[in-house]
Amino acid sequence: MSNTETGTETEAETERQTSDSLITTDVETGSNGRATASERTAVAARDVDVYYGDEQAIDGVSMEIPEKRVVALIGPSGCGKSTFLRCINRMNDMIDVCRVEGDIEFGGKNVYDGDVDPVALRRKIGMVFQEPNPFPKSIRDNVAYGLKIQKFDGDVDARVEESLKSAALWDEVNDKLDSSGLDLSGGQQQRLCIARAIAPDPEVILMDEPTSALDPIAASKIEDLIDDLAEEYTVIIVTHNMQQAARISDRTAVFLTGGQLVEYDDTTTIFEDPEHDRVEDYITGKFG
Ligand SMILES: Nc1ncnc2c1ncn2[C@@H]1O[C@H](COP(=O)(O)OP(=O)(O)OP(=O)(O)O)[C@@H](O)[C@H]1O
Ligand SMILES: [Mg+2]
Repeated sequence: MSNTETGTETEAETERQTSDSLITTDVETGSNGRATASERTAVAARDVDVYYGDEQAIDGVSMEIPEKRVVALIGPSGCGKSTFLRCINRMNDMIDVCRVEGDIEFGGKNVYDGDVDPVALRRKIGMVFQEPNPFPKSIRDNVAYGLKIQKFDGDVDARVEESLKSAALWDEVNDKLDSSGLDLSGGQQQRLCIARAIAPDPEVILMDEPTSALDPIAASKIEDLIDDLAEEYTVIIVTHNMQQAARISDRTAVFLTGGQLVEYDDTTTIFEDPEHDRVEDYITGKFG
């Protein structure tokens, strides 16, 4: 969804968008007010190849994802963004034909090492999908779900409240925690899924096109929320929306056909002065 589709584009913005940089948004890219000093790596991919049977979907991807930053993964359909995202918390394990080679380091360990428990890993690296997918349970039980699995022995209600507040949903649901999560609007359901992902206190949150099924206002709430989440968490988000990537991310990774990571840099550089012509063509809409 572009600015035009959100109906928020002003004439001044239109004018700026046709000026020299490839994409101009009304929000400064890259900085997002987050400190730049002492960047630590949250997740590092080293020479990652992914195959579905004989078909290669990711080809030799290496990248370091800084802690407490928002990293956007962009690229045309089928270039492997979702596949790469799912490698990070081993969601690809669920796909029989899928084989991952190379290392994904998290917390000083390759997540594919034999002694890593994928369920425990997914508590540390949570995931939010394109379609909001609350369980057919109460709002409270949706958020508490991961806590029950991990046999959390703290104050569940307090954690539910804290998570709903962090997901910017508390004010809308605090008087109906026992009603079904499925009775919420799409945008509320997506924030509920974010609350569910953050309740077990993860370090990283993976989001696969989290706003593409939402209306512009709900999408913009999620964008604001992602900005807040980066205070505490590392957020890795797949998006087809260039303006969204430019608005919310600190760094952007551009995947192109064949599952290759073609360019990975500060978001400002990717959108204003990319190194590769192919990246510029993709960003300016010449293909993809
Ligand atoms: N479960 C699967 N089984 C077999 N092949 C798959 C599977 N999932 C993805 N692929 C293939 O892997 C490649 C990358 O797919 P992926 O879904 O990661 O792309 P994407 O960049 O997320 O695309 P989109 O933007 O459309 O979501 C594609 O060629 C796709 O057909
Ligand atoms: Mg995808």
